[in-house]
Amino acid sequence: MQTIVDRSRRRFLLQAGVAALGYAATPGWLRAMEGMGMGAMPKIAPNKASPAFNPDVEIELVCRPSSASILNGRATRVWQYFARLIKGPENTLTTLPESYLGSVMRFWKGQKIRIRLRNELPESTITHWHGLHVPMLMDGHPMYAIDPGETFVYEFDLLNRASMNFYHPHTHEATATQVYHGLAGVILVNDQEERALELPSGEYEIPIVIQDRTFDDENQLIYGGGMRHGMFGFHGERILVNGRPDFHIDVSTRAYRLRILNASNARIYKLAWDDGTPITVIGVDGGLLERPEEKPYVMLAPAERLDVWADFSGRRGGSQLVMRSRAFAGDPARMGGGMMGGGMMGGGMCGRGMRGRMGGEMMTASGGSGYPVFTVNIKREVSDGPSLPTRLTKIERYRLEDVANPGRPVSIAISGGHHMSMSMSLNGRPYDFNDVQSSERIPVDTIQLIEVFHARGGGMHGMAMMGGMGMGMMASMPHPIHLHGQCFQVLDRILDEQYEEDYADIRDGFVDSGWKDTVLVAPGERVRIIKPFQHFKGRFMYHCHILEHEDMGMMREFAVE
Ligand code: C2O
Ligand code: CU
Ligand code: CU
Repeated sequence: MQTIVDRSRRRFLLQAGVAALGYAATPGWLRAMEGMGMGAMPKIAPNKASPAFNPDVEIELVCRPSSASILNGRATRVWQYFARLIKGPENTLTTLPESYLGSVMRFWKGQKIRIRLRNELPESTITHWHGLHVPMLMDGHPMYAIDPGETFVYEFDLLNRASMNFYHPHTHEATATQVYHGLAGVILVNDQEERALELPSGEYEIPIVIQDRTFDDENQLIYGGGMRHGMFGFHGERILVNGRPDFHIDVSTRAYRLRILNASNARIYKLAWDDGTPITVIGVDGGLLERPEEKPYVMLAPAERLDVWADFSGRRGGSQLVMRSRAFAGDPARMGGGMMGGGMMGGGMCGRGMRGRMGGEMMTASGGSGYPVFTVNIKREVSDGPSLPTRLTKIERYRLEDVANPGRPVSIAISGGHHMSMSMSLNGRPYDFNDVQSSERIPVDTIQLIEVFHARGGGMHGMAMMGGMGMGMMASMPHPIHLHGQCFQVLDRILDEQYEEDYADIRDGFVDSGWKDTVLVAPGERVRIIKPFQHFKGRFMYHCHILEHEDMGMMREFAVE
């Protein structure tokens, strides 16, 4: 996986290129490299600290093998981020209690951030700050992967508004395994506008990082590769929150702010409170919504975030509330489970089974309310607490008149690879650094209309073969599509009517009114989004955030120029 590059060439590329990769510079050398041949990924010498950059916050972040006590008994071998604050406000780093996840990094909008990433893993790696709007050189592009023993220095201005973000590796063809073994962490960005709202903070603001993992009898993580995991993504047998099984929080009868991140490789959750209380959503990927929204349930795909106002006032001390993931038609976690093994979490997972094209015979139908994600124990009755603001922020909605390409949307067609092959692609092309298409060249400082949809007939050829179900199965599965760089807005979703029955299970769970960087595109859906490409030229990836799909090639790049 490590690209072997002649050292002198590396140095040449460094001098010719990296210096020019700052803000809005033209990385002309990139275009030269596009002639290098298919599959080749350039390798660039690690970025060094620049003496001219005076950071407000400086962090050393080491990735290395470690072990953590997750289940009863034997410790689990994991890969871990270890963060140490070199400079900056004391509350910049907090560790999640008893967690193997990376420290929570708390930044303020406007801060200058320097992070020294040191690789002490046995393989190359690079870290991406999912959600942050940074120059290409600071974005964790796989071409910047560093070898064991090397250090890469990130330096950037924090431009984002208040939001929850996600740091994780973005290593070429190894993102899924590196995240799976523990490399994941949360970045919370604060700003003055959010602060003025006086939302619950301190012990009343709780990060909830949801992942699924499978353990063997010795408490070691199992990452089953294989065809099923390739096609549908890896689905673990146990739910962990903040790296803990059977996660619970003890609360008082007042309002809390739950900052939820789906950091699973592939699992999609349909989150709902078990007593039917609606979920009060105050924010998504890119920060606060204009006003709170009540949802019967919320769909949360890999890498999506949810800011939830959870008010426990009026509840009885000693009572419990459980956040569950409900069954839904077309859940990839349940597809193929009967044939290929794994992925099932007992009867509760089965829900009412899949209907229609998704193959009634594949799954046995059974009632069921899904599975628990975490439990809230109401411990103390108190009489005061904050109340929910009716207005949170102002979001200027983009209109079609604002885009540079109203009649010519940039398309992102989701498709499987060639017949019976395991490759995955976007626009019919698997990831290749040297293969930027003209439709993927975006003029900097423009606002673009983008359509994400399932390529007709380009779905899951392999699946038809696996299930022996004929080509009717090609209809595909939901894919969370993530675009690097600035957040976008969802303009609309257009559904092919033959998918309506399954879609009814999930349609009320999308929160499309806020700023997003990842959008779940259900089978039969065409999602139109509007995205700005401001400030930075260079390569910015877009890909499916089912990490197995990303690693198998369901990733492309925009060349912003
Ligand atoms: Cu969270 Cu390109 O990734
Ligand atoms: Cu990202
Ligand atoms: Cu996908």
